[in-house]
Amino acid sequence: MKISLLIISSLFIVNVFAQNTIVLNVDSVGPKINKEIYGHFSEHLGTCIYEGIYVGKDSEIPNINGYRKDVVEALKEMKVPVLRWPGGCFADTYHWKDGIGQQEDRPSIVNVFWGGVTEDNSFGTHEFLDFCELIGTEPYLSINVGSGSVQEAMEWVEYVTSSDESPMTELRKENGREDPWDVKFWGIGNETWGCGGEMSPGYYADLFRNYSAYIRGNGFQKVICGPSADDTHWTETIMSKLQGKLNLTQGVSMHYYTLPTGNWGSKGSSVDFEEDMYFSTLHGTMKIEDYINQHLAVMLKYDKEGKVKLIVDEWGTWYDQLPGTKGGFLQQQNTVRDALVAGINLNIFNNHADMISMANIAQIVNVLQSPILTKGKEMVKTPTYYIFKMYNVHQEANLVPLELQTEDYSYEGESIPAITASASEKDGVVSVTITNANPNKTVSINCSLNKDLKVADAKILTSNSYTDYNDFGKEEKVSLSDFSTAEVRDKQLNISIPAHSVLLLQLQ
Ligand code: AHR
Repeated sequence: MKISLLIISSLFIVNVFAQNTIVLNVDSVGPKINKEIYGHFSEHLGTCIYEGIYVGKDSEIPNINGYRKDVVEALKEMKVPVLRWPGGCFADTYHWKDGIGQQEDRPSIVNVFWGGVTEDNSFGTHEFLDFCELIGTEPYLSINVGSGSVQEAMEWVEYVTSSDESPMTELRKENGREDPWDVKFWGIGNETWGCGGEMSPGYYADLFRNYSAYIRGNGFQKVICGPSADDTHWTETIMSKLQGKLNLTQGVSMHYYTLPTGNWGSKGSSVDFEEDMYFSTLHGTMKIEDYINQHLAVMLKYDKEGKVKLIVDEWGTWYDQLPGTKGGFLQQQNTVRDALVAGINLNIFNNHADMISMANIAQIVNVLQSPILTKGKEMVKTPTYYIFKMYNVHQEANLVPLELQTEDYSYEGESIPAITASASEKDGVVSVTITNANPNKTVSINCSLNKDLKVADAKILTSNSYTDYNDFGKEEKVSLSDFSTAEVRDKQLNISIPAHSVLLLQLQ
């Protein structure tokens, strides 16, 4: 009798006090988290390139060879491992030869996808690749398949990467660049199922094979245009069409955007929202894990060794444009809700580090879920910026697989996990990033370790309200601050994670 009571009461104790747990075995070293999982995307869209990155040498805005000084410094501090350019939909209208030579001699075109504005091509191949060198990032070029040609693509590769004597390398030298640039990442078409050519998967897969035969270079990583969201039919078709030729690609790109309403006609506001839209945004963003697993299952059917990786080439929130901004410029603000979206997605990508080799949030400045926003001379760092800064400790670290048990955060009959987490180890430091999506309560979690480690550092991103954001001309509201935790006792650490917050815990 006494014994059974004891068992019942100890089970009760486990249930009540250990509802949320993270079990970390820091000796079990997982795959490397590629730094490129923390990648970014820059497109000739709205004020991403012009105004956001490039203002020209004669601008009153402080600049280094035309690149905004404030943006350059902020990006260096955040650490940008890879940058994709020139699009997006723009890439399949872009003819790279329009963007070389003297800037004043370059032809102007109309940016048909994004606002119909005049594109004067003053930011071209040299300006982009020099910018990558300036901020210390790997360039990732997106080749025009929709309206370009194999010849044009081949010549771009030669112009950029060749050290042989050839008409293209001569042209490059005439334009002031003696040595080739080191470009490894090449995307062959963007959204070829839509703005990149409205192709069927079978037709595109054949075209990809054709292009791929001529995009050649040492260590090249060639990316095949993959699915949107959960379109496994696209993945299935391209993978089956690559049978026997899997070595032509190193990555399948997928795109997934988070819309609060799930409706492209009326997506929801970036700043003016209540808990219903907060919940549906996080609910929507978490679907990505299921989609990733579905695509990986298809890919592994055709590529048993998992040599071809998944690249989440475009991800992030997409809201209705801010009132008063130009149509087609995709300008939105960025709140604590976006910080949660970023933290949740990055935890998911880390936890799939064996098969996700790269991910690029859309987009780096002034478009969609941007880490940085600019307005004239002003610049703000958004909550998303601070998440990338907080999580950069995971770049090139080894994943530490963790077991997570979490309560739910429920809203009007629907639920999502309150907590997400991922962990990695580098140079003897274990970094754990944790999100608490619940906006109504502090969530307590017990973290148990297999080693006696101490808390070396802890940082938090939170704010009074999940609608808080950093605005131009105002004091910064949302950033990182130190977080004080209890000490580790008997390899156990109890953490109380405030409502709607993201945490970094470093143990040593
Ligand atoms: O990021 C904005 C657009 O979204 C990109 O140009 C396109 O690839 C996607 O549809």
